[in-house]
Amino acid sequence: MRIRQQFSLLITNIRRSLPPVRNIIMSSESDHSPAFNTPRLVLKKVLAKSQREGDGAVVRRGIGRSELKNLDPFLMLDHFSVSPPGGFPDHPHRGFETVTYMLEGAITHQDFAGHKGTIGPGDVQWMTAGRGIVHSEMPGEATNKGLQLWINLSAKDKMIEPNYQELLSDNIPTAEKDGVEVRVIAGEAMGVHSPVYTRTPTMYLVFTMMPGSEWHQSIPESWNSFVYVFEGEGVFGSPSSSPTMPYHVLVLSLGDGLSVWNNSSKPLKFVLIGGQPINEPVVQYGPFVMNTQSEIEKTIEDYQYGKNGFEMRNNWRSQ
Ligand code: CO
Repeated sequence: MRIRQQFSLLITNIRRSLPPVRNIIMSSESDHSPAFNTPRLVLKKVLAKSQREGDGAVVRRGIGRSELKNLDPFLMLDHFSVSPPGGFPDHPHRGFETVTYMLEGAITHQDFAGHKGTIGPGDVQWMTAGRGIVHSEMPGEATNKGLQLWINLSAKDKMIEPNYQELLSDNIPTAEKDGVEVRVIAGEAMGVHSPVYTRTPTMYLVFTMMPGSEWHQSIPESWNSFVYVFEGEGVFGSPSSSPTMPYHVLVLSLGDGLSVWNNSSKPLKFVLIGGQPINEPVVQYGPFVMNTQSEIEKTIEDYQYGKNGFEMRNNWRSQ
């Protein structure tokens, strides 16, 4: 313990004695950010192309498309856009969590246990499907946009009771520094913590960076992480890398943090999401995600016959 403390003091002193980051970049042609021991770099850049989903909805699928099938523990990231009469009518989930973050408009959800609610811009619904939820997710008027992330659950949590954590926009911890604003949906940044309980350890940060700003965000070293840019353009990982435009997913290498620069003349908005890998086999059949094929077959049977968590589906229809 003592050695560790001395070591971290040493690192702190070394960091203190370094000139500011910007000076280093200007005075040398350094190709990596000096803010971290092992800066995370961009391993893969993929455009989340639009596709049809649900009933008349359009989604840009980032994680979960063929080039990015699974980034343990993440199964899917959809940037959805939906207008009435479209939507996501009654459908089941088992074995993972869905996190919905609204960007514009509203979504009303109803489930077979009588849980009902509407989330609007900046609100989050963190739904643990566990052993089973059947629900509908239907849009408000006009255009409704948001992000839906699917986070896998480990074998020990797949069959837990369903649960909701809802965070209204005003209650999301937010911090701001040097032209950089962060909203902390899960995890910690700029010294503020999210109250969300994550069964699979996860960080979910929403950043807005003003023109000319830069940010260096720590990330637990062994977690998988990615960025999704939804507005503006930014430089990620290395100051010499080419700017990333909206609707791209960046898969990051492992490391202790990510550096970001907004060298453009407009605000940059993106999410940075990271999670501890579960390292278990993943067998997915649409909205069911289990560890083995036989568990999937069992799930289909449970859903069809309304048992083992799907009992309430038998006589239920959303309004
Ligand atoms: Co759903």
